[in-house]
Amino acid sequence: MKSMRKILVTSALPYANGSIHLGHLVEYIQTDIWCRHQRLAGNDLYYVCADDTHGTPVMLRAEKENITPEQLVDMVHKEHSQDFSDFNISFDNFYSTNSIENKVLSESIYKALVKNNKIEMKEIEQFYDSQKEMFLPDRFIKGQCPKCKAMDQYGDSCESCGSTYNPTELINAYSVISGTTPIKKKTDHFFFKLSECEEFLDAWTNSGTLQVEASNKLKEWFKAGLSDWDISRDAPYFGFEIPDAPGKFFYVWLDAPIGYMASFKKLADDRNLSFDEYWKEGSETELIHFIGKDILYFHALFWPATLSFSGYRTPTKIYAHGFLTVNNEKMSKSRGTFVTARSYLDTIKNPDYLRYYYFSKLNDSMEDIDLNLDDFLAKVNSDLVGKFINIPSRTSGFITKYFSNTIISAEKITHTESHELINELLAIKEEVVGLYEARQFSKLNRLLMSFTERVNEYVNRLAPWILAKNEAEQVSMSPLHQICSAALQSFRILSIYYAPVMPNLTSKIASFYGESDFKSINLIHKDIVTISQYTHLMTRLEQISIDEMLSQNSN
Ligand code: 2FM
Ligand code: ZN
Repeated sequence: MKSMRKILVTSALPYANGSIHLGHLVEYIQTDIWCRHQRLAGNDLYYVCADDTHGTPVMLRAEKENITPEQLVDMVHKEHSQDFSDFNISFDNFYSTNSIENKVLSESIYKALVKNNKIEMKEIEQFYDSQKEMFLPDRFIKGQCPKCKAMDQYGDSCESCGSTYNPTELINAYSVISGTTPIKKKTDHFFFKLSECEEFLDAWTNSGTLQVEASNKLKEWFKAGLSDWDISRDAPYFGFEIPDAPGKFFYVWLDAPIGYMASFKKLADDRNLSFDEYWKEGSETELIHFIGKDILYFHALFWPATLSFSGYRTPTKIYAHGFLTVNNEKMSKSRGTFVTARSYLDTIKNPDYLRYYYFSKLNDSMEDIDLNLDDFLAKVNSDLVGKFINIPSRTSGFITKYFSNTIISAEKITHTESHELINELLAIKEEVVGLYEARQFSKLNRLLMSFTERVNEYVNRLAPWILAKNEAEQVSMSPLHQICSAALQSFRILSIYYAPVMPNLTSKIASFYGESDFKSINLIHKDIVTISQYTHLMTRLEQISIDEMLSQNSN
């Protein structure tokens, strides 16, 4: 028997200043399918996440809503938790970076970095809003683009001509918060000396932890040279105050990834697991981060360096994915394609449709994926309703009517073609496992759909509805009984293979076979002899639901 792997998986922490949308869900669905697969394959896996709560946007939004940042963060945590649970994202813990565990870990990691001489204080000059009495992050300064002179551009880049620059270069800069002209002011910041970590990072990034595209990206960054990383912000700031530095706070990106550890720490305390087994230097468990390609810099440079120079293990793998486009365009509020998770649930209802669609499109690369809404509708209806659940829907009736819900167990089926079909399905198990492991979801879906089509074609050709007209067929072990049994045995195997993708559908299917749930991929070998009476497993997706979803999101 293969030994069980111990895996800790994370998805990127969503910001606590906005709702979960379909773009976020690409990542949570991808990760969740991967995690469910690992559990089904018998590995020991924990999947943790948290809200990313700190920073200026959360602080200012709370102020605007006349509540404390803590209240805002609690409110959003409830909303996010409900969204994730309704999409069947199987977190073992969904926590918050504004937690005591995260504070303790962030402080101790920072102190270890100080001890290892990796932190340095430098004086910098930043824009300051004297009315609001706060330093302004780049996003909170606007002005005229220095290149094309477009008005109202952000402090870091121009949306009109695409050029990037420093906020100091803006013409007629103003504070987004007070509208006043910011002044330049000197302040001391703490820097993490990333430039000293090059040798370590070079080795780490070339040790099989990254996708090819990601390691190419890193080569570019190395070539440009690594700059030291500013890890502090001045008060007022919603975050953790830096030890022995009153009025200085950890920059949100310092404590955010530590939130992965903190979420696991809480889980470990609750379930009596060993925190060290997963985080201590030299740990042999796997640590896998799923992220979007936009935050590669943080996860492939800052994060491993932070861990390594504070005495912790580094990630085993970083799996980065691309962005989501809708109908081949960036998600957009005006087109209604900036769709929140909640509005999907309110209108389309079943998360399995979207889970299936993303599954059918995802692979292990950083390419963007497109949610084409016409294709979404067509694919769900044709693959899932038209083909997949079509198998039980047109064979189980005969089993109920003539064979008192009894099906022939796989090895007792003697009809040669039927027997072969089942054996072929059993034989692809390792291939299925391998494709899940490698995140080759779209390829895996093609394999599973081709078998789904084969089973349908087999049922079509052997036409049980014609056989059933003959009374001699209505007895146990007749060809009618064998064919319908083989179709239902095949469908059950396919359903187990698809289990990580569509949890709602899977639990209905499991109960159709009298099972509580498909907990192990080895259940494909189990002897099944009875089914329940068929009830419809999935309804068609209607255009009207998609229209409603879009109209809910347009303003
Ligand atoms: O990009 C984002 O949405 C961040 N909130 C992700 C943080 S991931 C982790 F490092 F904390
Ligand atoms: Zn411009």
